[in-house]
Amino acid sequence: MLYITRREHFSASHTLKNDSLSESENEQLFGKCNSFHGHNYYLEITIKGEADPKSGYVMDLKNLKEILHEKIVNKVDHKYLNEIELFKDINPTTENMAVVFWNELKDVLKGELYELYAVKLFETEKNSVIYKGNE
Ligand code: NI
Repeated sequence: MLYITRREHFSASHTLKNDSLSESENEQLFGKCNSFHGHNYYLEITIKGEADPKSGYVMDLKNLKEILHEKIVNKVDHKYLNEIELFKDINPTTENMAVVFWNELKDVLKGELYELYAVKLFETEKNSVIYKGNE
């Protein structure tokens, strides 16, 4: 099995909060992250599959780049995440973002010889989340 990864970057702002909690409970739970702030995110999408005998590719990385821009980057770059459709009623933690991105991509990144394997999202240089569906 082969694994290929495309890395993308976007900048976005968010406020972490649980709408079912009070203001003071949110402050206590999320601390500084309960205030409006931004991150330089890095998103790594890994596809697993076999090399196509004709091209030698698992998936053409140009196509992968275009799909990632259309489905994710164009929707989140320079946006306030709490206010975009993708995160309607979803607290935009790195964990929840990775799951939302997986759900956006899993059907479109499914070919005869390949499928989505992992979504890895870096919120900072030191903090990241990996989501691999129901695995
Ligand atoms: Ni944050």
